[in-house]
Amino acid sequence: MKLIIDTDPGIDDAMAIGYAAADPRIDLIGLTTVFGNVHTPQATRNALRLCDWLGLDIPVASGAVQPRVLPPFPPSHNVHGSEGFGPIPAENAQATAIEEAAPEFLVRMAREHQGALVLCPIGPLTNIAAAIDLDPDFTKRLKACVIMGGSLREGGNINAYAEANIYHDPHAADVVFQAGGNIAMIGLDVTHRTLASRADFDHLANRSPDFGGKLNEMAQSYIDFYETVGKFDGCSLHDPAAVIACIDPDLFAYEPHPLGVVCDGKRSGETCAVLDSRPPVRVATKVDAATLHDQFFETLATLP
Ligand code: RIB
Ligand code: CA
Repeated sequence: MKLIIDTDPGIDDAMAIGYAAADPRIDLIGLTTVFGNVHTPQATRNALRLCDWLGLDIPVASGAVQPRVLPPFPPSHNVHGSEGFGPIPAENAQATAIEEAAPEFLVRMAREHQGALVLCPIGPLTNIAAAIDLDPDFTKRLKACVIMGGSLREGGNINAYAEANIYHDPHAADVVFQAGGNIAMIGLDVTHRTLASRADFDHLANRSPDFGGKLNEMAQSYIDFYETVGKFDGCSLHDPAAVIACIDPDLFAYEPHPLGVVCDGKRSGETCAVLDSRPPVRVATKVDAATLHDQFFETLATLP
């Protein structure tokens, strides 16, 4: 399966990209970067570092630096650390980004791999909306667009109403969710069930001392944040769940819903089922969390 991940790396983004590199069924053909957990230049640098660490020789295209309509906002450094990988200090990558901007790269790839490319956005949807501006049939050219974001009945994580990726660009999400094509939403309704513990990551580091060791360092600080929220014992595998949904969609159950996004006021970023003629989105409502958990760690453990 040919896959492109649009990402704001980010600790769980690093986990998701590591999984994509490790699963032999996935042909990861590119990364595009966006603001969110970090500023876009940091996201691009971190995507390139992941390519170095994982031995990925693939295009990395830099994308949007601010939301489609809203003003820029401070990144979630309290969650992912000031450089995006928890306590791991910033360092330059060997790999370099391509000149082409993310939306143009995405449109070109969708055309070159018409009907065969899966796109997995795991950050704000700004680049995806910009691709639709360039090519109104962009999402329809994709085999699937599997989005980490949103919430149908689970409430929010950045506040009571909104999930972070949608909150950070509600206008872009509203464009994408009504664009049509095979669009799936892997939201908090399922990612709040896909959890991992400190011990899980410690064990991974023993089996994969290099990349798993880096993920363990990041995850321990990620779980430090989660403990301040006091909701889970461990952390949510938000972005890994979306990538796994690309290759193993049957681990999830879905409901078709036309989706609207609140774009202003205190509920800005809330995703809601609407009763109108917009094309439905496949909203994940159930997940085989135990199987996903074990598959995630067994696959990552094959990395050096
Ligand atoms: O709400 C979780 C999402 O926001 C994840 O993609 C995480 O990386 C952050 O971007
Ligand atoms: Ca992310």
